[in-house]
Amino acid sequence: MKKIMLTGDRPTGRLHVGHYVGSLRRRVELQNTGDFDDIFIMIADAQALTDNADNPEKVRQNIIEVALDYLACGLDPEKSTLLIQSQIPELCELSFYYMNLVTVSRLQRNPTVKSEIQMRNFEASIPVGFFTYPISQAADITAFKATTVPVGEDQMPMLEQTKEIVHKFNSVYGETLVEPKILLPENEACMRLPGIDGKAKMSKSLGNCIYLSEEPEDIKKKVFSMFTDPTHIRIGDPGKLEGNTVFTYLDAFCKPEYFPEFLPEYSNLDELKEHYKRGGLGDMKVKRFLNNVLQAELEPIRNRRKEFQKDIPAVYEILKKGSEKAEKAAAQTLKEVKDAMKINYFDDMELIQEQSKKFSE
Ligand code: TRP
Repeated sequence: MKKIMLTGDRPTGRLHVGHYVGSLRRRVELQNTGDFDDIFIMIADAQALTDNADNPEKVRQNIIEVALDYLACGLDPEKSTLLIQSQIPELCELSFYYMNLVTVSRLQRNPTVKSEIQMRNFEASIPVGFFTYPISQAADITAFKATTVPVGEDQMPMLEQTKEIVHKFNSVYGETLVEPKILLPENEACMRLPGIDGKAKMSKSLGNCIYLSEEPEDIKKKVFSMFTDPTHIRIGDPGKLEGNTVFTYLDAFCKPEYFPEFLPEYSNLDELKEHYKRGGLGDMKVKRFLNNVLQAELEPIRNRRKEFQKDIPAVYEILKKGSEKAEKAAAQTLKEVKDAMKINYFDDMELIQEQSKKFSE
């Protein structure tokens, strides 16, 4: 069986370091292994519209931002197909048929949908399109016969829903769809990178994000304002690592080679953590180290972004080409789906003959 990777993001803002450690970095690594027969990276504008119906301009403006962030991180259009969801009409058709295989109560139980309904104050009136977006996401995944979907933990319920649709479809209409596997981030810190204020999640409205395109001065300011351990007041006091944002970021970003480069008096992160816990290590020193690490990680990304920003028409062309290629793949799956469901009347000579016979008897 072919190995196909698919994943995507809603274009509602620039991507931040949470996206990076949660999925983007892994996508690029996987891309560069050459292990995959195909890679599809989707800018999920149609999904973004399910909760931004009244703000299409926001979605429209952010398509290029997300595309630039993708290219800046090292997604290579020669190796990965970058596409825009709304440009693949086959996805709507697939969703329409999958809707018959999912119950309302099953969607109501979806934890991600549940929490998003709360977050957006949709309790009183939930848009149908929003309510059914897990079905549309199942269409995204199955249309490209994805076997590997690298996403954050919050997408687990979407993958579960997709698998259920795959099983149901295959058992009712015969083996057609491919079951995807979720690929979660490598550690806790990457799974749930908090905002710089230590709050659960990075979000634009909380103003606690570090963006991939952030300028060096702003990265520094944000690192130095990070939440640490409020009980670690004097340098000599013992420090806590749990809930200490600076150490969470180090867990997500630190590589062994950064110690000889920026903090040679320690040989690894465990040693640094031990010293902090014991007492005698000040927050400023750890913050300075984290700043150096983040600057080293983000500089090449920011520079590549600036290169791509010089030719925006070329970026749109990459998305157009990618969307065209993706549509071909989705059209093939849609054909197989319609064949399996026997809604292929004009291609089915047997049906036409059978009906002729019936009416000539
Ligand atoms: N739901 C994802 C998010 O909010 C975006 C997305 C849309 C996606 N379609 C997808 C992710 C298919 C993986 C696979 O970020």
